[in-house]
Amino acid sequence: MKTTILITGGAGFIGSHVVRLFVTKYPGCRIVNLDKLTYAGNLANLRDIEKNSNYEFVKGDICDAGLVQQLFEKHDFGGVIHLAAESHVDRSISNPMEFVNTNVIGTVTLLNAAKQHWKASLAAVLKGRLFYHISTDEVYGTLGKAGKFKETTAYDPHSPYSASKASSDHFVRAYYDTFGLPVVISNCSNNYGSYHFPEKLIPLAINNIKNNKPVPVYGKGENIRDWLFVEDHAKAIDVIFHKGKIGDTYNIGGNNEWKNIDLINLLCRIMDQKLGRVKGESAKLITFVKDRAGHDLRYAIDSSKLQRKLKWKPSLKFEQGLERTVDWYLSNEEWLTNVTSGEYKKYYELQYVAR
Ligand code: NAD
Ligand code: TYD
Repeated sequence: MKTTILITGGAGFIGSHVVRLFVTKYPGCRIVNLDKLTYAGNLANLRDIEKNSNYEFVKGDICDAGLVQQLFEKHDFGGVIHLAAESHVDRSISNPMEFVNTNVIGTVTLLNAAKQHWKASLAAVLKGRLFYHISTDEVYGTLGKAGKFKETTAYDPHSPYSASKASSDHFVRAYYDTFGLPVVISNCSNNYGSYHFPEKLIPLAINNIKNNKPVPVYGKGENIRDWLFVEDHAKAIDVIFHKGKIGDTYNIGGNNEWKNIDLINLLCRIMDQKLGRVKGESAKLITFVKDRAGHDLRYAIDSSKLQRKLKWKPSLKFEQGLERTVDWYLSNEEWLTNVTSGEYKKYYELQYVAR
């Protein structure tokens, strides 16, 4: 067991689930969560575990080389699970530089600190150190009607987001090939579940349906995504962190493809039922809007390597996971209101002052 683990971006959607899993499952392990608390990061996502004695939060930027180096010296991390990123494709279209800074420069800043502190020698491997980089299936580009992304699929990113993630993946591999830094990478499909910032399709649609606002569907709604319940992703990260082969890549996916319009219609049916509305009422909110520029048509992941070698598989059926997700949002209205209004951000800004 690696004793102190640095998790970056632990206040975000997926990061908060990973932090929660590690803090509760490994009480003998210390978790340091480094997060800048951007609009997407929120300490309310971690309220249930924030007082655990094996958990520590540090507010800071992964691009701050001095801070990152200092943290490595202070904690002598056994492992890094790197999730911090700018993650929303639409924001990457309006502000690509933010994505270059955090996703590329931030990742290289962390790699440098690990390399320097771990001396990047074979000894680092023997001592069980690991730099685990969390990436996305979007680096592979887009699929036609058939086929799935394999670990060997050539990179072909189309959005500034996926281009920045592809670049960070290349840097991670370059540090393995050039300096022998012990790394592992996973590329996952679209996640859904609790604590998802309501700018992404599923939480945005739930929030809008609840408030009787239009649900924007890009283009004709024909684009396809492969959805995975976020807690299943966190479990996959746990397995890969502990059993993954150094230098390897693992694809993670739900084997669960949905056309956007079909997904939204399913969500509308669930919302009608949960809100006691007449059948078909929520679907009236569906509004087709201008398509996203460079919109990838289809993502689908072949996760057979992970399933075969590390014995992971998704635990939930989509209909079950989606219903559970809707229930969570409807019973956590305060969270939804406060993240949308920025109220939590103001509150936590007062508690944590950046270095
Ligand atoms: P998110 O946007 O919800 O959270 C990102 C977190 O990173 C936030 O807490 C934010 O405050 C923090 N952060 C951003 N810039 C930072 C910086 N410069 N320094 C320190 N912290 C910073 O993202 P997410 O959806 O949880 O995604 C987490 C990771 O998983 C990302 O690397 C993303 O590329 C990857 N991923 C996401 C999905 C998905 O469906 N959401 C799928 C596959 C892979
Ligand atoms: P999103 O949740 O932004 O994830 P990603 O772009 O990383 O896959 O979008 C999921 C799909 O839903 C994608 O095809 C774009 C589409 N979409 C809409 O149709 N309307 C929306 O308001 C949003 C945010 C996304």
